[in-house]
Amino acid sequence: MNLAEPVTLPCGAILPNRLSKAAMTEGLATPDGRPTAALEQLYGIWSDGGCGMLLSGNIIIDKDHLERPGNVVIESAPDADMAARLASWAKAATRNGNHFWAQISHGGRQTQKLVNPNPKSASDVTLALPGGQFGKPTPLTKDEIADLVERWAIASKACQDAGFTGVQVHAAHGYLISQFLSPRVNLREDDYGGSLENRARLLLEVVAAIRAKVGPEFPISVKLNSADFQKGGFAFEDSLTVVKWLEQASVDLIEISGGSYEQPKLMGIEGMEEAEQQNVAPSTVAREAYFVDFATAMQSEVSVPLMVTGGFRTREAMEQAVEIGAADVVGLGRPLCVATDGASQLLNGAEELPRYEDSLDLIPNWLGFLKGLQMMKAINGFAAIYWFYQQIWMLGHEGKTDEGFPVFKAFRIVDARNKQIMKARARLG
Ligand SMILES: Cc1cc2nc3c(=O)[nH]c(=O)nc-3n(C[C@H](O)[C@H](O)[C@H](O)COP(=O)(O)O)c2cc1C
Repeated sequence: MNLAEPVTLPCGAILPNRLSKAAMTEGLATPDGRPTAALEQLYGIWSDGGCGMLLSGNIIIDKDHLERPGNVVIESAPDADMAARLASWAKAATRNGNHFWAQISHGGRQTQKLVNPNPKSASDVTLALPGGQFGKPTPLTKDEIADLVERWAIASKACQDAGFTGVQVHAAHGYLISQFLSPRVNLREDDYGGSLENRARLLLEVVAAIRAKVGPEFPISVKLNSADFQKGGFAFEDSLTVVKWLEQASVDLIEISGGSYEQPKLMGIEGMEEAEQQNVAPSTVAREAYFVDFATAMQSEVSVPLMVTGGFRTREAMEQAVEIGAADVVGLGRPLCVATDGASQLLNGAEELPRYEDSLDLIPNWLGFLKGLQMMKAINGFAAIYWFYQQIWMLGHEGKTDEGFPVFKAFRIVDARNKQIMKARARLG
């Protein structure tokens, strides 16, 4: 079976098989962003689950730009306590000989008001979502950009020193680097805005700074949108060009995803505005795997290994994606929040993984008519993500999951926990 075959990356590192746990934010760090025993327990369980590679959830380089309360934060070279905590986490996460890569990120304008009402971004375009949860951003100065580039490199080196076996730069899903890539969000007139070359400058500077710090043999990956699926946004043609630049920049694996909070295609969820169609030939595998056609179109033009994430549930679709050369690595997210050994199951012949997302509904059946409304669809989709957050919390703290956990209860608990974490952080000063 091709999913069991190892993959050799350009830097020489070998992934033992083709299945990877995609990055999933954990929210399990201390209020000041340090790794915990809960993170160790969670990743130990995932390491036992059979994936050749595990990606961490967002590790954030600026505590004022969390993707979510409870993120691990690395702003500068770690002190002894932080270094020890990172090392224990990496040790647990690699206990079965699999890879464990750190996803390094910055929330930019997708930082919730609860964390920071005045976030920084490429320019001052506020997120177009109802509910007033996101503040109007201030454009980063060039000095601030240079500082962030350095932080990405420092955080990567800290993870390498701690025993992580690779890093991933998060340039997808509408977070800071994705904001720079988008012509809708990036209205800058300096050399970080305008042409694609300028919009991709931050990403390429980050990759170069990391490579200079971690050396030639350490895997560097980038998670990139195949498109933002928005009118006037980062389009497939842009993405293809950026992939070619990343290949030249010594990136070892590019993970293809798509969308943002405004257009959550990454989860197969519809946003409030109509998705902008992209110019890519459709295939049958794509009925299940959201971005496989984009990866197929890319593979014919580049030789850098690609990981494709989003929607994969059947072994047949995964094997086919590898077979046709669309994916060198298949990313798995939601199924592994409950079926933590999903990769082993597939490698031992299971036909498919559970689709928990299909039965998670915030809106009860008697209010079913609301689901016709675009806004309610979006809210329902976001609430379901909190159910997965709750499963991750239970794995970390109790070592088990609860498939029957009510969606609304998960939403309330996770929301309250987020607020508690921010209160505790405020007390720390
Ligand atoms: C609970 C949860 C947390 C996530 N956190 C992250 C994250 O920290 N970084 C990231 O790049 N993607 C994140 N994602 C997106 C996943 O990596 C993946 O792209 C998405 O779930 C689609 O894959 P799936 O259909 O196999 O779930 C998250 C998804 C879920 C469900």
